[in-house]
Amino acid sequence: MHKNIDKIKKLESPAKVIKNLFDKSEIEKFFNLYKDLPITVHNKKQNVIKKRWLKNYSKELENLFYEKVKNEIGDFKMDNLKDEKNEDILGLFQESYNPIGLHVDAGFNVNEIIFKQTLIPLTSRGSTVIFKNKFYGNSTNFTIDENELKIKNLNYGQNFRSSEHIEMFNKKPFNKDDHKKYLKHEKIENLAGLEIDLVYEWELGSMLVFDRTRLHCSSCVIDGKKIGLTTFTKK
Ligand SMILES: [Fe+2]
Repeated sequence: MHKNIDKIKKLESPAKVIKNLFDKSEIEKFFNLYKDLPITVHNKKQNVIKKRWLKNYSKELENLFYEKVKNEIGDFKMDNLKDEKNEDILGLFQESYNPIGLHVDAGFNVNEIIFKQTLIPLTSRGSTVIFKNKFYGNSTNFTIDENELKIKNLNYGQNFRSSEHIEMFNKKPFNKDDHKKYLKHEKIENLAGLEIDLVYEWELGSMLVFDRTRLHCSSCVIDGKKIGLTTFTKK
């Protein structure tokens, strides 16, 4: 559990979508940066390609991103993993062909005061589901799949696996219509007690900002593939 839960809670605010934050040419630059970066993970089973946003590929985009985000959320630090050279990783690009399951990106250090995370879509179709429910432990994938729960040997930066969310909320059966519409890739039992706060429909130029304590996942709406850039902040 996080040590500074009181401080983390004080910083919490509603999830927010900022439209027209980046213009077409800026989005194109992010897309080109994505193409230039080396592949970190190509998980053929989950059909996902991950690339880390490494420093010094584009100073221009680093500054642009920092200024735009600061303007929205105020002072922050990036809460980054490190690369092999002990350099900060600024964010994570994910190219996914299948929806990403229920999880929280609360980080790997319970002494930090985690703050907001951002999502910038680089393709136009897709959506992300943010739940009202919160979690104050580390970055965790929430699942009731026995095989997933058995996975204990985690690499650096990999999420824990847990089913503890089921006990944390009220166990009320998840809304069937919402399940059918957005979350067919999740077992409905895995969503017990959860309530949708916001469904972010991806739109180029916009950005989603939400608290790192929020449970979230992709919706099942994917047209072939989608590419997004996620970053994590702390105070
Ligand atoms: Fe996430």
